[in-house]
Amino acid sequence: MKKHRGKPIVQITDPDIEEYALRMTTSESEDVKKLVESSDEQLEYIDMLSGNMVGQLLKMLIKISGARRVLEIGTFTGYSALMMAEALPEGGELTTIEMNILYQELAENHFRSFDKDQKIILIKGDAREEVPKLAGVFDLIFLDADKLSYAEYYKNSLGKLASGGLLVVDNVLWDGTILEPQEEKAMALDAFNKAIADDDRVEQVLLPVRDGITIIRKK
Ligand SMILES: C[S@@+](CC[C@H](N)C(=O)[O-])C[C@H]1O[C@@H](n2cnc3c(N)ncnc32)[C@H](O)[C@@H]1O
Repeated sequence: MKKHRGKPIVQITDPDIEEYALRMTTSESEDVKKLVESSDEQLEYIDMLSGNMVGQLLKMLIKISGARRVLEIGTFTGYSALMMAEALPEGGELTTIEMNILYQELAENHFRSFDKDQKIILIKGDAREEVPKLAGVFDLIFLDADKLSYAEYYKNSLGKLASGGLLVVDNVLWDGTILEPQEEKAMALDAFNKAIADDDRVEQVLLPVRDGITIIRKK
């Protein structure tokens, strides 16, 4: 990855530990590696792509929980969607929502090339409008779109999550800036984390993995 939000990467974990942990983590499939290469060729920055540690964690959660119906909010070029689709059982299905037209095209091409089991459904639109329209409930929801709307996505997603289902939220530590939030995304994420901590409808664990991941379980 070239840069992180246009700045050198600030790592929550000691860089040597992070690098060691990545080396000891199951590698991406050949298809996922090709998707990363293709994304890198077509875009100047691919730092929004969540990476193998988050991807592998999502795969584990799907396999351990037996999730069959998964929703992703924020597709980008399709990295985490493809990772999660690979973990789904026969008959499983992943719906992912993206509003940016260029990213929609790239993700669509990637799913056509790499989603061999046709498990991925791409919804082209604004997740703030699309999530409330979705029918049925999901076993796992991965929230990874714009940080200022996390509270709104959470409100809309919780009703779409099965009882006992998991909501996984990325970037909750925002390079560690949530400790003394100075800008609006850091403030929004800090407020979001505090709201989750106070919400009796769920139990959660905030893991200092990469840029911070919260795993929320609906009671
Ligand atoms: C961090 S990236 C997602 C990365 C992806 N999950 C991955 O791991 O490769 C966030 C994406 O959310 C999209 N996005 C932001 N706000 C959105 C919204 N309201 N509705 C749908 N997509 C949105 C952005 O265009 C961007 O592609």
